[in-house]
Amino acid sequence: MCGIVGYVGPREAQPLILEGLRRLEYRGYDSAGIATIHEGSLDVRKAAGKIVELEGRLEESPLVGSHGIGHTRWATHGAPTTINAHPHTDGSDRVALVHNGIIENHDVLRIKLEELGHEFRSETDTEVLCHIIEELFDGNLEDAVAEALSHVEGAYGIAVIHADEPGKIVVARMGSPLLIGIGENGEREMFAASDVAAVVRHTRQVIYLNDGEMAVLTADGHSLLDISESGNGEAPRRVSREVSRVDWDLGQIERGGYEHFMLKEIFEQPDTIRDAMRGRLLEEEGTAKLGGLLPLEDVLENVERIVITACGTSWHAAIVGEYMIEELARIPVEVEYASEFRYRRPIVRDGTLVIAISQSGETADTLAAMREARSRGAPIMGIVNVVGSSIARETDGGVYIHSGPEIGVASTKAFTGQLTVLALFALYLARRRGMSLLEGREFVAAMRQLPELVRLSLDESSAIESIAREYADNANFLYLGRGFNFPVALEGALKLKEISYIHAEGYPAAEMKHGPIALIDQNMPVVFIAPSDSVYHKVTSNIEEVKARGGKVIA
Ligand code: F6R
Repeated sequence: MCGIVGYVGPREAQPLILEGLRRLEYRGYDSAGIATIHEGSLDVRKAAGKIVELEGRLEESPLVGSHGIGHTRWATHGAPTTINAHPHTDGSDRVALVHNGIIENHDVLRIKLEELGHEFRSETDTEVLCHIIEELFDGNLEDAVAEALSHVEGAYGIAVIHADEPGKIVVARMGSPLLIGIGENGEREMFAASDVAAVVRHTRQVIYLNDGEMAVLTADGHSLLDISESGNGEAPRRVSREVSRVDWDLGQIERGGYEHFMLKEIFEQPDTIRDAMRGRLLEEEGTAKLGGLLPLEDVLENVERIVITACGTSWHAAIVGEYMIEELARIPVEVEYASEFRYRRPIVRDGTLVIAISQSGETADTLAAMREARSRGAPIMGIVNVVGSSIARETDGGVYIHSGPEIGVASTKAFTGQLTVLALFALYLARRRGMSLLEGREFVAAMRQLPELVRLSLDESSAIESIAREYADNANFLYLGRGFNFPVALEGALKLKEISYIHAEGYPAAEMKHGPIALIDQNMPVVFIAPSDSVYHKVTSNIEEVKARGGKVIA
């Protein structure tokens, strides 16, 4: 995943941008670069590989200037080489640009630009934008950028500087997150970033751009413009947007003594689950209070069908949500991958509520699925972690999971935060649809125990670690569970694949005999999720089946 950082103000830009890029390292990248403008000329340093490679180059030849942009690139078009790293420049080396996203019509644009005599240096889709801006620049960078973007199809978050426009950064967004940070404590400075983690050390005052918006930053301030109609010849329209205050503290985005963020976040779960429930459980009434659902009160009163849409881990949480809502509130629920939903002609009738689940609140497929549902008339509810994110802003109502920043790329605490909120939501609906007061109170009491139960599980970590060591050389794993733990098995398999590069599959335990059983032998460890619930005895029978074939069971 790529990252963008920009700075304009009185301080030297290079160290601030480097620090911001380091804060985005967790997102994964394979090259990095920075460009600054000093005394009317543009200077760029780039390197393939980790940020230390870039630092090496900057030590040999530092960048000066108090105005610049930086990028961490995850290769999509063109190999992860220094030439393909961002920032990219135009033929005259006056424009530098960093880009997250994909320019879908880059081939056509490239051919036209080559016909006009432009020579390309990289294999990237991004470079076309630099050349179009060069072609259109007439002394005003924002005009050239707005017009250039009207020729582009695809997704972008960009930051652009021009040597003839010192002290100015132009940023724009379409489908790829971007925010601006406003200098605090009287500092006349501005930041730009694709992720708030890059700027939070310097400012907590941020403005999130919406799709179709552009912002012009100088040390003295910013202007926000709607450029969505530029393609139709309309002039950009000024937009005013409230400044959001980021309530994370630095400790939350630092490792705090843990070896890596994922471990830290796994161990935060007793607290994050407690935070997801804080102020929301009503003991006496045996229900949940979810203030963010007030705008949807009438919808929830009359809802006949719920469609939950999400990706990856959030999709797994959605399936647990489906099971809970159907079992407790007796409302039919369907769960659909956002990437499928957005390209189908989904059926959305009166009485359908669509719920989008997302940790980041910025996943492009989920956002697009939501918009598709809205265009078909559905009310939209969100279950989101990042406050003020695009998905959160575009819903009609919703519930934040309050897990704090999830820096580890693999979702962990956000998953249990999503499950906690889905359980609260299922309780809230169920109490309106026939669950008794007594059952509601029992549910509330059980939920109160969750943080402590999770803590007890985490106390087992050294035993879990020794099991992991024992099995670390296996190339394949199966994860099996039934009922609520079927989606948990899917999530376990996803985590193993993503983190250990070991092949793993998740199945409902009883499905094993319909095919996957053929794979079971002493080389196939099988992870069973088997708590003492209503299907415990069924799961133990499946365990016996695995043992009978010499499979190794981890339960
Ligand atoms: C897995 C993981 C991904 C995300 C998915 C959706 O560990 O992190 O599968 O869950 O990309 O992201 P969000 O929840 O931010 O919409």
